[in-house]
Amino acid sequence: MSELISIDECEQLTTEDVHDLYRKHVSRSQVSLMTSFGFGRELVDRAEGAWLWTRSGRRVLDFTGGVGVLNHGHNHPRILAARQRFQERQRMEVHKTYFSPYVAALGHNLAQLLPGDLTMSFFPNSGAEAVEGAVKLAYKYHQGKRGRILRADIAFHGKLLGSGSLTGAHQTFTFPGIPGVGTFPYGDLAAVRAAVAAARKPGGGCDVYAILIEPFSASTMNACTEEFLRGLRELCDANDIVLIFDEIYTGWGKTGSLFYFMRYPGLIPDVVTTSKSFGGGKSSISAYVAREPVFRKAYDNLADSLMHSTSTTYYGFGEETATAIEAVNIVVEDDYPRRAREIERVLAPGLDRIRKANPGTVAAVRGSGALYGIFLDGGPKILDLATKLAPRGLARDPRFRVKLITCSVIDALYRDHGIYCYYTLNGDNPLVAAPPLVVEPEDVEYFLDSLDKTLAQGLFRLLTRFVREKVAPRWPVAS
Ligand SMILES: Cc1ncc(COP(=O)(O)O)c(C=O)c1O
Repeated sequence: MSELISIDECEQLTTEDVHDLYRKHVSRSQVSLMTSFGFGRELVDRAEGAWLWTRSGRRVLDFTGGVGVLNHGHNHPRILAARQRFQERQRMEVHKTYFSPYVAALGHNLAQLLPGDLTMSFFPNSGAEAVEGAVKLAYKYHQGKRGRILRADIAFHGKLLGSGSLTGAHQTFTFPGIPGVGTFPYGDLAAVRAAVAAARKPGGGCDVYAILIEPFSASTMNACTEEFLRGLRELCDANDIVLIFDEIYTGWGKTGSLFYFMRYPGLIPDVVTTSKSFGGGKSSISAYVAREPVFRKAYDNLADSLMHSTSTTYYGFGEETATAIEAVNIVVEDDYPRRAREIERVLAPGLDRIRKANPGTVAAVRGSGALYGIFLDGGPKILDLATKLAPRGLARDPRFRVKLITCSVIDALYRDHGIYCYYTLNGDNPLVAAPPLVVEPEDVEYFLDSLDKTLAQGLFRLLTRFVREKVAPRWPVAS
């Protein structure tokens, strides 16, 4: 190998080479953690639709849905073609002082699809940047005269300093963040009303500039009721508070409507954030879309026009925006919300059947569309031993037991059935069934059948195998 690795050499690296380089240059503990699972010990050679092919030639059903990114599946042919076309025509990526037809068209398309006067878009790269952009817009809307923002206790809004400080429960370390953050229990309108009433400025005016909420929480599988969301809208109207819906995960059909909130006609936030499948599984692009009067009051004057806009380096990058245009068109033409509802018609009753058949193991099942959580619990005495042997940091985690059970099921699904799943770090750590919306009904049936067979082995067997083979060899015995 020469001193610098070429792309050719990169594609020849073995799994061990990759682990070594990760240990040296990315994270040793990430290697320890992820090699506890079969998928941490293999490399993916290629991916298509809902399927992955590993280097060893194994075919794996990707039931993670790319954690929200893969509504279109891997390498959707129309997405690839849109990117190739952009490259072959040698389109321009970078400059911001030439106007971009792609940014213009993408903004138009979003305005067409979203309700009301949600018409003004901004296109950064990640979900966290979209959330922070939306929060900054809300703060500027009030010209810095209000100092408080409210978010839900179980919120997940990203991991940057700002968005991380708006993210809830599962954090184990506190970084400095946005000042003035208040928290309310998810879905509790009376608590939000009380928090707004308590946040008064010395003169008596409201001090809350924004309320930020996920209408459907993909990390805990909780949904806001219609009554709660409409109540928030009224409360925000009455107090001139900017209402921000974070639909970064749930957008583009995943839960059975284009955006979760759009199942409730006439319900319109002041700002909505999106990302993930907005990029068709290939492009790292996100957006916030604001109601026109909110955007105008915040930034629409010459002095502020570059304050949070086109001057960001990767804002509205050429191929990313071209890809997003195609991704959005596919969602509409192929009616992705309908596809999610069709998946749900197979997935929801199947999971319910499995829950009823395993009352000691499956505590609950809940979700919407093609996004379901399976909440596992129970387990034999061996768990207490495993907890004793766990490294100190992990053993102190009150969720350790549930996480170990869930990981053992994920590991068995992968090893025995070639199904790739994940669990969330937030809330009650459900195992997530979130297939791409291009998955075939028989693949959903295969998942259900495999989960059934896996749970039929019993937790004792699943856990002993997982701990003995994968976990214990990596743990120093706790003193
Ligand atoms: C609801 C929600 N908001 C924000 C984010 C942060 O997005 P990103 O990881 O792209 O920063 C996520 C990511 O999972 C999310 O699910």
